[in-house]
Amino acid sequence: MAAAKLRTTVLQGLGGALPSRAVTNDDLAKTLDTTDEWITSRTGISTRHKVEPGTSTSDLAVAAGRRALENAGLDSVDMVIVATSTPDYRCPATAPDVAARLGLGTIPAFDLAAVCSGFVYGLAQADALIKSHAAEHVLLIGADTFTTLVNPTDRANAVIFGDGAGAVVLGAARDGGAGRFGPFTLGSDGTGVDLIRVEAGGSRQPVIDTADPTAWFTMQGRAVFAAAVAAMADSCRTALNTAGWEADDVDHLVAHQANRRIMTMVAASIGVPSERAVIHLDRVGNTSAASIPLALAAHAGQIRPGERVLLTAFGGGATWGAGTLTWPALEAPVIDLI
Ligand code: UT7
Repeated sequence: MAAAKLRTTVLQGLGGALPSRAVTNDDLAKTLDTTDEWITSRTGISTRHKVEPGTSTSDLAVAAGRRALENAGLDSVDMVIVATSTPDYRCPATAPDVAARLGLGTIPAFDLAAVCSGFVYGLAQADALIKSHAAEHVLLIGADTFTTLVNPTDRANAVIFGDGAGAVVLGAARDGGAGRFGPFTLGSDGTGVDLIRVEAGGSRQPVIDTADPTAWFTMQGRAVFAAAVAAMADSCRTALNTAGWEADDVDHLVAHQANRRIMTMVAASIGVPSERAVIHLDRVGNTSAASIPLALAAHAGQIRPGERVLLTAFGGGATWGAGTLTWPALEAPVIDLI
């Protein structure tokens, strides 16, 4: 008797959304003590997109989610997860509102907060829900509006972050094939809570006073740089081992788009040629939980079905993770400008 085939999770749809307002390095240099040369050479970023007042994380999430559903050819799913650290409200979660606005009915919908690792955490969560038969299809959206958290006068951080959303539809398959995700590896180290943080606005310090520096996003850039390279490289090695892939099998390395130098160093550290590192941050900056799905959507046309993709992220918490994906045959995904 043939062995029963294992249930796997496959990528069935992809979409994205960006605010229509693009902000170039030269635009920022008009009000901040910075230059296009510094930003480009230290980060690799040329442009980012910024929400106008009145546009929120959920608006981007709905647009990206709609595009991913269209791309998958579906008008219903069993669950919605929104990975975000910039929800519309401190309470309630953003996902139920997104699900309702997408016309998905009364399905379970929840937020997941792992900052820039949120999308990889979300993939691992959706994969487990699908494998446990809790869902046949999950819409996972990474959406963030970090320009609402960063003090616009803080040159160290204002040049890095952009707003956006990226979404995937994940479905159940038997043994998969193209589109199949491999096992995920996740980690965290809460002793690094102060590496990336907004102190005010939570239960520890509920009052937000924008004249107080604790109201704004802070990051220990150099320490985060070193921790990000080490944790992403380590989790990539673990993900490769569990998938049974060699570094040279990786056709595309899609790392969280925080800094071009970080991505190049991760590639070198794990032995993947640097030209296989997908670079999208030049156009959108660091979009936190949206960065991996947006990079996938933007580069989908350059990835052939059956090619091997390695995903990895590092973010506040500190949190990190990695996983593998064998690229599916997809219609060309759309990234909306809203
Ligand atoms: O998304 C979550 C994960 N995040 C990351 O992975 C980010 C990791 N960190 C980084 O990417 C980099 O550390 C940054 C891009 C944030 C900063 O680059 P850096 O090369 O580490 O610069 P630095 O913070 O060490 O600063 C070097 C110098 C400083 O001046 P002094 O003290 O040497 O005189 C800064 O004041 O660069 C100065 N500087 C700037 N100069 C011009 C900092 N920001 C700017 C700026 N323009 N925008």
